[in-house]
Amino acid sequence: MQVFHQIQSLRKALAEERRQGKRIGFVPTMGNLHEAHLALVKQAQGECDCVVTSIFVNPLQFGLNEDWDKYPRTLEADTAKLESVDCDYLFCPDETEIYPNGMAEQTRVVVPSMTDVLCGASRPGHFEGVTTVVTKLFNIVQPDEAVFGAKDFQQLAVIRRMVEDLCLPVEIRAGVIVRESDGLALSSRNSFIGEDERPTVSQLYRSLCWIRDQVQEGRRDYLVLAETAKEQIQAAGFRPDYVSVRNSHTLDPAADDDADITILGAMYTRGARLIDNVSLVLDA
Ligand code: PAF
Repeated sequence: MQVFHQIQSLRKALAEERRQGKRIGFVPTMGNLHEAHLALVKQAQGECDCVVTSIFVNPLQFGLNEDWDKYPRTLEADTAKLESVDCDYLFCPDETEIYPNGMAEQTRVVVPSMTDVLCGASRPGHFEGVTTVVTKLFNIVQPDEAVFGAKDFQQLAVIRRMVEDLCLPVEIRAGVIVRESDGLALSSRNSFIGEDERPTVSQLYRSLCWIRDQVQEGRRDYLVLAETAKEQIQAAGFRPDYVSVRNSHTLDPAADDDADITILGAMYTRGARLIDNVSLVLDA
């Protein structure tokens, strides 16, 4: 695997791949890689001739009181994991490479719809930070396709909208959510879960699945279901942020006759904010 810290040298290497007609896949990450990230790399390898993974803990997408400074940085272990799955390129720039004029002066990419609800409501500015850095990374790598984890369902929907609105020539793919045996979705933030919290922390997923089962049995009182799920999370000892049933494409609150719906939720443990979602397709 070739490792690059500079935009210019990565571009030169990728230009040569492109010249040879190779299809370039891209997996943007913030590092602290786990099985779910490696699954994204493998997915990209299935459809592309060479794959670039980026590792950049993007300060622009973290709020002032969020966990940017304690976000786990494990570059050596991440490099070994990417080598083990034969990733072709690792791009790990530092902050000045990505924001040479400083973050305050950085031109921003704003997706007006879908970004001030759900996670966007509790994390103002978060999606602007994501869309700005992802646009920059797309311009640096110029991939044919990019793979994003479906655990960050809202992020995926926002990026799809951005790519459509800005006519960016990249195909967006969703990777499946990888889970522990009790259903907990793999996440870099799982390392902040307390040992005493671990046995019950999959309550978020269980509550989302409970809503899914109720919907499959015919219930459509989505607001009531979401409130009950929040009570379940609270009863398990965690602070719910939101639980909501949404149209999978628009992220609008689900209507009774919506066929593609996604149940999204977020909750706080003592040291982390965890998110998860469950999608389902209802018979017309
Ligand atoms: O999902 C993430 O890890 C980040 O939000 C991303 C897409 C790499 C942008 O910083």
